[in-house]
Amino acid sequence: MFNLVIFGAPGSGKGTQSERLIEKYNLHHISTGEVLRDHISRGTELGKIADLYISKGQLIPDELMVKVLAHELDNNPEKTANGVIFDGFPRTIPQAKALKEMLAERGTKVHAVVGLEVPEEHLVDRMLKRGQVEGRADDNLETIKKRLDVYHNQTSPLKEYYLEEGKYHAIDGGSTVETVFDNIVKSLDSIR
Ligand code: AP5
Ligand code: MG
Repeated sequence: MFNLVIFGAPGSGKGTQSERLIEKYNLHHISTGEVLRDHISRGTELGKIADLYISKGQLIPDELMVKVLAHELDNNPEKTANGVIFDGFPRTIPQAKALKEMLAERGTKVHAVVGLEVPEEHLVDRMLKRGQVEGRADDNLETIKKRLDVYHNQTSPLKEYYLEEGKYHAIDGGSTVETVFDNIVKSLDSIR
C-alpha cells in the first residue's frame, strides 16, 4: 500500500499529474475539489454549503472537510486498498493532523508528499486559460487572487510540517507535463 499526498498551489498541476500517477502506480485518486464540484452540480446540501466558500476562493471549514474525506475513504474500500493519491487535502495543519489520525485508525499512513513548486505568474496564466476553456467558476482573476492568498496563508505551512516528518519531496512543476511526471516518478521510485 502506498499513500501519496500531491501538494501545491492552485493551478500547480495536482490534478494533471494525479491522472498519470494513478495509472502508473494503480492508486485511487481523491480530489476534494472534484468531490465538492460534483456535489455542487448535483445540488446536494453539501454542495450548497461548498458553493458559498468555493465561489469566494475560501476554504470549506476543517471539521466539515474531514467528514467529507472520511466518507470518501470508507465509501471505496476496494478501490483504496492499494493506496490513495490525496489531491487538495490536507490544506491546513488541522487537516494534516486529522489525515494522520484517520490513516492510523485504518492501519496505514502518508508515505510521501510530492510538492509541485511553480512560479506564481505561471499559476495565474494556467488558471485563466483553463477558465476560458472549461469555465470553472473559480477560475477568474479576482477569485484566483483570493485562492493564492489562502494558499500562502493557510496551506503553504504544510510544506514545513511534512519536511519535519521527512516526507516532503520538492518537484519543479514549472516545466512540461511530461518532464514534471518523469521527475515525480524518479523521486518516488527512489523511496519506494
Ligand atoms: P481544488 O479543486 O483542489 O483546486 P486548487 O487547489 O485551487 O487547484 P486546481 O484544481 O485549480 O489546480 P491543480 O493543482 O489541480 O492543477 P491542474 O492539474 O488542474 O479546490 C477548489 C476549491 O475547493 C478550493 O478553493 C476550496 O474552496 C475547496 N476545497 C478543496 N479542497 C479543500 C480542502 N481540503 N479544505 C477546504 N476547502 C477545500 O492544472 C491547472 C491547469 O494548468 C490545467 O488547465 C492544466 O491543463 C494546466 N497544466 C497542468 N500542468 C501543466 C504544465 N506542466 N504546463 C502547462 N500547463 C499545465
Ligand atoms: Mg485540481
